[in-house]
Amino acid sequence: LVKVIIMAGGKGERFWPYSRVDRPKQFLSVVGGKSLLQQTVARAEKLVTLEDIYIITGEEYVHIVKEQISQLPVQNVIVEPVGRDTAPCIGLGYTYLRDEPGSTVMLVLPADHLVINEERFCAVMERAAEAAYRERKLVTIGLQPTRPETGYGYIRCGAPIAELDGVHEVLQFTEKPDVETAIKFLQSGEYLWNSGMFAWRLDVINEAYRRFLPEIYTGLKKIAEAIGTRKEKEVLERVFPTLPRISVDYGIMEKSEDVLVVPGDFGWDDLGSWTALERVEDPDENGNIVYGNALLVDTSHCIIRSSNKDKLLATLGLEGVVVVDTEDVLLVADKSRTADLKKLITELKEHG
Ligand code: GDD
Ligand code: MG
Repeated sequence: LVKVIIMAGGKGERFWPYSRVDRPKQFLSVVGGKSLLQQTVARAEKLVTLEDIYIITGEEYVHIVKEQISQLPVQNVIVEPVGRDTAPCIGLGYTYLRDEPGSTVMLVLPADHLVINEERFCAVMERAAEAAYRERKLVTIGLQPTRPETGYGYIRCGAPIAELDGVHEVLQFTEKPDVETAIKFLQSGEYLWNSGMFAWRLDVINEAYRRFLPEIYTGLKKIAEAIGTRKEKEVLERVFPTLPRISVDYGIMEKSEDVLVVPGDFGWDDLGSWTALERVEDPDENGNIVYGNALLVDTSHCIIRSSNKDKLLATLGLEGVVVVDTEDVLLVADKSRTADLKKLITELKEHG
């Protein structure tokens, strides 16, 4: 039995001002007409039926999830009182699945990634689910790295597993290395990027939490005992916010020695910044990527997004600039600086 958990609680500040606190990246159509969450659910439906797809998100986003995935059974939306990063998020997921732990495999998918080839994606996920079931290990999906990205996890790929085609041992998992290390990993040719998509049996992940994240494990047990009782909401709201804030990558994947990887080749991007669009969209003949109503003269290698149909966005003589016009914010940024958008948002929070 396979169940899919989609993590959709990220704040998505990197597409600001198009993405906002009240509507982060996963709920926007960044590439293609549908939102990234809708695309993720459609992909997951090629693996399991909608009844076996669960979405974990924050209280403030539940209404968007219900509006965008209107067919999803209401009990399949798992609500976090507050965001505590991915380890508590995934833990709450398996707590609410409440299946026979030894026979259920849980696939974990981020809600905000782009996948190009869905057929290959499905083949890789099915292989990962089978490996997770048979080997009783934590399985991650790895991707061929193309640049020394420091925002990703790196997986040192080991020997293939006998009788399981395309599944490898993991020798080492390093989350978000510094740039020198990332360059070394890339040059060695031995590493894959961690995609942030995982497969594991419920009994196996439960045991990993007990070993590596005992505080979260104990908190989740209290929540599990209250599920279905009158105290459920009260216990969830009291216990969940006290769980340590840590990602599954630091909390489990770096520590466990029982990790396998399935290399994926489906065309992937986590759309981590405005400039990610240059990797996934076709630029015009001057290297510009344009959304909405815009007139560009002598403009090259720019990323332009205008949200207002009735207002023309015009540029003259620009190079390497990001311009994003929304109803209440206009962003003009040097393209090489879009990774630092967080600085701007922090400043904004401090000074209103
Ligand atoms: N529900 C919920 N609650 N979702 C969350 C929370 C939370 O508290 N925190 C993050 N998410 C969701 C995000 O929306 C995203 O879809 C996914 O979980 C991963 O979280 P990120 O915060 O985006 O992680 P990251 O990008 O820094 O790193 C992860 O992804 C990389 C690939 O994109 C790691 O797994 C890396 O190892 C990996 O390389
Ligand atoms: Mg991410």
